[in-house]
Amino acid sequence: MRRPFVVGNWKMNLNLADAKNLVRRLDHETVGIHNVDRGVAPPALLIIPLRPELQDTRILLGAQNMYHEPKGAFTGEISGPMLVDAGCQFVIIGHSERRQHFGEDGPLLQKKVKAALDIGLDVIYCIGETLQQRDGGETNGILVRQLHEVLIDGLDWKRITIAYEPVWAIGTGRNATQDQAQEAHQHIRLWLKNKYGPDAASQMRIQYGGSVKASNAKELMNMPDIDGALVGGASLVADEFIAIVRAAIPK
Ligand code: PGA
Repeated sequence: MRRPFVVGNWKMNLNLADAKNLVRRLDHETVGIHNVDRGVAPPALLIIPLRPELQDTRILLGAQNMYHEPKGAFTGEISGPMLVDAGCQFVIIGHSERRQHFGEDGPLLQKKVKAALDIGLDVIYCIGETLQQRDGGETNGILVRQLHEVLIDGLDWKRITIAYEPVWAIGTGRNATQDQAQEAHQHIRLWLKNKYGPDAASQMRIQYGGSVKASNAKELMNMPDIDGALVGGASLVADEFIAIVRAAIPK
């Protein structure tokens, strides 16, 4: 049985005071929920000051990105060991905004995923097709390529979550339908089965991301291969975030 995992990807939003209020409310109003994992990925500057707020809560602390080298002359970057030192438990790698605006490609993301796992961070690896690719019937091929070029042999798959995030659904208010999402998730799981075997495929979590909100979370979460959500905009609003965590509670 896969435990759903709901993560707020706050992107470049919130100040410290608002972030503290948000996690306090999230903790307070979901404290009794034991069968949904949840976490937040704040902007890097907020990770250290938020850490004490998250101690003794069930909310995991993560980062939105990291560099693969452990240290050195890489101006502006943050390394895996630094994230661990700051208290992070997981890191998001390969978000489409990183691919699109910062030129991150398969070979780089492969190094990042490996470096994150090696230092002890769990990984949320994001994949997804653009609208043009979907319209061109390329969705499955794109997903397989993004999996294949980054998830190499020998990785500790137990510590990897896949996030399926169709690019056309991110921040647009237009989510994938439950059937579109389920179909993609099923395809991803099949690839995982071929790569890492049936045990891995049945245990690895695949989150859906892209305009998840309180009003559509339940129908998405009800699908058999959707194991939680990676939430952007709605995770900035306490009521929405809390409702999405509740919607992920297994039946
Ligand atoms: P959104 O973003 O929920 O605002 O669409 C999701 C994401 O980018 O992870």
